[in-house]
Amino acid sequence: MDERERVQTDEAKGPPETDPRIAGEKHPVARMIGIGVLASLVGIAISLLIDWFPEDASGSADQIDTLYDVLLICSVPVFVLVMTIAIYSVVRFRAKPGDLGDGAPIHGNTRLEIIWVTIPFIMVTALAIYGWLVLDDIEAKQTGAMVVNVTGQQFTWSFEYPSEKLQSKELVLPVDRPIEFKIQSKDVIHSFWVPQFRLKSDAVPGLTTQIRVTPNKEGRYEVVCAELCGIGHATMRQFVRVLPTKQFESWVGRQKKAAAGGGAGGGGGGGGQGTSGEDVFTSAGCSGCHTLAAAGADAEVGPNLGKLPEAEANAKFIKSSILAPNAEVTKGFKRDVMPKDFREKLSEEELDTLVKYLLESQE
Ligand code: CUA
Repeated sequence: MDERERVQTDEAKGPPETDPRIAGEKHPVARMIGIGVLASLVGIAISLLIDWFPEDASGSADQIDTLYDVLLICSVPVFVLVMTIAIYSVVRFRAKPGDLGDGAPIHGNTRLEIIWVTIPFIMVTALAIYGWLVLDDIEAKQTGAMVVNVTGQQFTWSFEYPSEKLQSKELVLPVDRPIEFKIQSKDVIHSFWVPQFRLKSDAVPGLTTQIRVTPNKEGRYEVVCAELCGIGHATMRQFVRVLPTKQFESWVGRQKKAAAGGGAGGGGGGGGQGTSGEDVFTSAGCSGCHTLAAAGADAEVGPNLGKLPEAEANAKFIKSSILAPNAEVTKGFKRDVMPKDFREKLSEEELDTLVKYLLESQE
């Protein structure tokens, strides 16, 4: 049909100006409320069924997850209400073809305005108080807490245990003991985050920020940088291991021995006789990309190092592959993914320990 014909039919069908109904419906508001309530219930059900978070591994995770559910339950009906009114208005008040005039001037509606200011104000205030109570509770000072200093820098995390006089490239924590993280940055803003602990805090140059967490589930989780901090942001990921207290203590003992043995002091340099191959494997970051059953590593960015082909399972090949990763790239994997600076990162001794360890760890 041509344009003029259509204009005429639409005009003929259109409801009179004062009638708020769409196409002559009998109870438009009742029906809208019905649809709204149904949509809200379906929306709430779906949002609660979705598994938003990874497993929880800290004492405060339950409270945070509940808070999140309450926020969802409150926001879905608000979203439905706003969308219902918006869609209704778009359909009902659609300009007729050819109508280029302005709408009627509106001076406001005091009663409506009071309602739509008061209800959201009460909701937001109530949620803010609830959120504040939860935050106050999970941030409460705990007795017997262990301080761990966290330092972010482009693009790695390092950790210090002042009570143990120990520095580490790896974060290892005892289970069920309150931890007080004191977070700093050496360069730009990073954000220290372990999704399984739920809590997150920015690492800001010149400031020390703090979070308190009690890890309550043994396991290995990722420490993630959650603030865009430069080209290596996406790779600024390390692991945290939560261990039974005894194992944690023996880890501390091993680290101290290694630091003393290396003579360099601190976990950074040395790498003496006390450093095990597994320690080098983990602290040099190999476990971030490779699978090695012996070390409990299961990453798949690079080849499985526990199942080397016969031709590659010799010290010479392994060592040259660590130092010059691009020389021979295993089929199915990409060039330039593996860092090329292990010559600087590892001492000759650490390198030999690592190579020996990898040879011993073949399945
Ligand atoms: Cu550090 Cu992103």
